Amino acid sequence: MPYAQVYCAAPHPQLPVPSDMSQQFQHDVLVIGSGAAGLSLALNLPDHLRIAVLSKAELANGSTYWAQGGVAAVLDDSDTVQSHVEDTLDAGGGLCRESAVRFTVEHSREAIDWLIEQGVPFTRDERHSVDDGGFEFHLTREGGHSHRRIIHAADATGAAIFTTLLEQARKRPNIELLDQRVAVDLITQQRLGQEGERCLGAYVLNRHSGEVDTFGARFTVLATGGAAKVYLYTSNPDGACGDGIAMAWRAGCRVANLEFNQFHPTCLYHPQAKSFLITEALRGEGALLRLPSGERFMPRFDPREELAPRDIVARAIDHEMKRLGVDCVYLDITHKPAAFIKSHFPTVYERCLAFGIDITRQPIPVVPAAHYTCGGVMVDERGHTDVPGLYAIGETSFTGLHGANRMASNSLLECFVYARAAAADIQANLHQVSPAAPLPAWDASQVTDSDEDVIIAHNWDELRRFMWDYVGIVRTSKRLQRAEHRVRLLLDEIDEFYSNYKVSRDLIELRNLAQVAELMIRSAMLRKESRGLHYTLDYPQLLDAPKDTVLSPRPPAPSADD
Ligand code: FAD
Ligand code: SIN
Repeated sequence: MPYAQVYCAAPHPQLPVPSDMSQQFQHDVLVIGSGAAGLSLALNLPDHLRIAVLSKAELANGSTYWAQGGVAAVLDDSDTVQSHVEDTLDAGGGLCRESAVRFTVEHSREAIDWLIEQGVPFTRDERHSVDDGGFEFHLTREGGHSHRRIIHAADATGAAIFTTLLEQARKRPNIELLDQRVAVDLITQQRLGQEGERCLGAYVLNRHSGEVDTFGARFTVLATGGAAKVYLYTSNPDGACGDGIAMAWRAGCRVANLEFNQFHPTCLYHPQAKSFLITEALRGEGALLRLPSGERFMPRFDPREELAPRDIVARAIDHEMKRLGVDCVYLDITHKPAAFIKSHFPTVYERCLAFGIDITRQPIPVVPAAHYTCGGVMVDERGHTDVPGLYAIGETSFTGLHGANRMASNSLLECFVYARAAAADIQANLHQVSPAAPLPAWDASQVTDSDEDVIIAHNWDELRRFMWDYVGIVRTSKRLQRAEHRVRLLLDEIDEFYSNYKVSRDLIELRNLAQVAELMIRSAMLRKESRGLHYTLDYPQLLDAPKDTVLSPRPPAPSADD
């Protein structure tokens, strides 16, 4: 494929010139994102560094807080690194980077030990005694795993991890936790017209003051989470807009495998239930998927039945819903004792009960919904992006771990392992980087207050709807072309709006979502096969030699023949 096909010039930024109102800050490390990845990185840096951790809304607004099932790791004597590696490679549909998988799994035990040291209250195994030599915490199972290896805190693992890490971060005077700060764009030497390519910090909208502040930093870390909000129906909280991917792209970083959007098979289907996930651990503990008639269908699709990897289960549900013309299927755990259900899944039990569904007696109506962004900003094993001084960790990054389909509970693990690796790398390189000189302030002199915010709301809605219809679980070339046409129109309109009006959180997110949607569509069009989460009716076969889809924002270097 010619390189020119994947080249796209970055849109014009609002240019920086001095302004009186905004503030200037200088930190050693700027961490954009306060989820599992961002907090872990900050906590793994030494006390003498001045660190800022930003969140675009309240500190708990990322996906981390909502994680249910747990963290996959090799913890029990009967499990092995090799087995976890093989399961991950298998779920990843032949596209995982084996070195990244091995690196992550080999560091899984120490990541969990660190979380336990921080005080995360993981659920204990009631059967464990000090003498039996087994692991003292309860391990559950999820799709794709051939062993019980998911450590969890009942069915609210993310809340337990987030709360503990936040509490630890609050004890550290060198860590400033700043909520309601929306990073707009990264500041690079290139953007400022200076020699070099280093990242020097970021422009950040302070939603308390309404001003765009300037954060200079020796090292900048993107820990901004995923982009599932690009779809109409999603398990993700509102902020999952791919901001980090879009900012990194505009700053000159390559991105990879953005066609692989994971749809979680089981989100609660109820008119008032916005984005509520029914954890895969229910299936791990024996819950069965049924049609409205009560018939089970997963045995017809995969020998692993309800515990097949997520892409297979979500596609099977989608197929059955379309075949029968029904709005949902059902997840049934009523054959388990009520006490077991209530103690293992208190969050799911309570939430469903609030909607009038008693899961100890009734099957749960479920549908697939967009859940996880497998692709992202390309990084190496230390979280380095293509731009010096800029790291990416957690769901915003692409490490090669997930391949064409992430295995359940490998995501939080990736956050911890790569956050710790990036922190160690920053520490090792501190002496080479001096504090940045003061940076030019954001220029808002050419823009006015928008008087037509309805355009933003309308474009948000249109984007998420056509992504759901045309770039969903089952794709075709025609649908992708339609989506491409529409996203280009939207990008032009948003670009014009951005050039004329003051930035707001909604505008920043829409601009980023549209950019990431365009990258996702382009990536999907480049993959001429069906693999993992990318399934297209026009190319149903697997190609012999799987390749990552890598997009670059930079023009190709001239070759010797030019
Ligand atoms: P997040 O936790 O999403 O945090 C992103 C942070 O970035 C937030 O603080 C946000 O405010 C900030 N941010 C974003 N953009 C900006 C910006 N422009 N400026 C400033 N700040 C910004 N994975 C598992 O492994 N196990 C599970 O059991 C599991 N369950 C899940 C259940 C649900 C309902 C969901 C939605 C996901 C689940 N996942 C699970 C996936 C996993 O939770 C996420 O992949 C992981 O938490 C991502 O962590 P993160 O730190 O990368 O990002
Ligand atoms: C779940 O609990 O089903 C979510 C697990 C994950 O996304 O890894």
